[in-house]
This record gives sequence, structure tokens and C-alpha cells, in this order.
Amino acid sequence: MLQNLVINAGYVTEDDGTIVISAEPVNGNMQVRVTDTGCGIPEEIQPYLFKEVMTTKKDGSGLELLPCKNIIEDNHQGKFWFESKTGEGTSFFFSFPI
Ligand SMILES: Nc1ncnc2c1ncn2[C@@H]1O[C@H](COP(=O)(O)OP(=O)(O)OP(=O)(O)O)[C@@H](O)[C@H]1O
Ligand SMILES: [Mg+2]
Repeated sequence: MLQNLVINAGYVTEDDGTIVISAEPVNGNMQVRVTDTGCGIPEEIQPYLFKEVMTTKKDGSGLELLPCKNIIEDNHQGKFWFESKTGEGTSFFFSFPI
């Protein structure tokens, strides 16, 4: 999970940008966050990100986010989501019961 998210974050983060990884307990869950200061997820693809295989990369598979969501939500009673703002960056979150 983390490796996928960090590679995606690295792909969009400029040399002077930052990637922050955090983990904290929230209401009985462990909540993990990967935040980048990249371009943000294009708004036109956001609605499809968890519905179908989707990539904006020439050499991408688009095969990571959907399985990540399914693994967390189907097998670990968890949640997987993102918040993103064009030009500002993206945070991916996942949480699961401690
Ligand atoms: N941190 C991010 N910032 C901006 N867009 C993102 C970010 N993470 C994912 N995306 C968008 O979501 C798409 C799907 O991501 P996913 O990891 O499933 O596949 P991919 O990265 O395109 O391909 P691969 O993982 O095989 O290299 C990406 O192509 C990109 O458009
Ligand atoms: Mg990827």
C-alpha cells in the first residue's frame, strides 16, 4: 500500500516539493496518510479513480489504486480515500481497526 502511494506521490512531486507520510490513531483506527505537493489529481478523472482501471501515465498500468482500496475495504474492515486540489497536491488516506 505505502509503496504504491509513495511512488505515485514521487511521480508528481517536484525537486523542491515534499512528501509526508504519517500514521496516527483516530477513533480506534490507525489512520495512515501520504501527502504530496504535486499537481493534484485531474478533476475529470477523480470520479473514475476507484471505479475502473485508469492511468494518465504513458507507461502506467492504472492497476494500483483500485486494488489498494479493495484490499483495505474488503479484507481489513478499513477505508481508503483521497483529497486532492489542482496545483496544490494530494493526500491519500487509509485506515483500519487497531
Ligand atoms: N499522488 C497523485 N497525484 C496526482 N495524481 C495521482 C496520484 N496518485 C495517483 N494519481 C492518478 O491516478 C492514476 C492511477 O494511479 P495508479 O497508481 O492506479 O496507476 P498508475 O500510477 O497510473 O500506473 P502504475 O502504478 O502502474 O505506474 C494515475 O495515473 C494518476 O493519474
Ligand atoms: Mg501508480
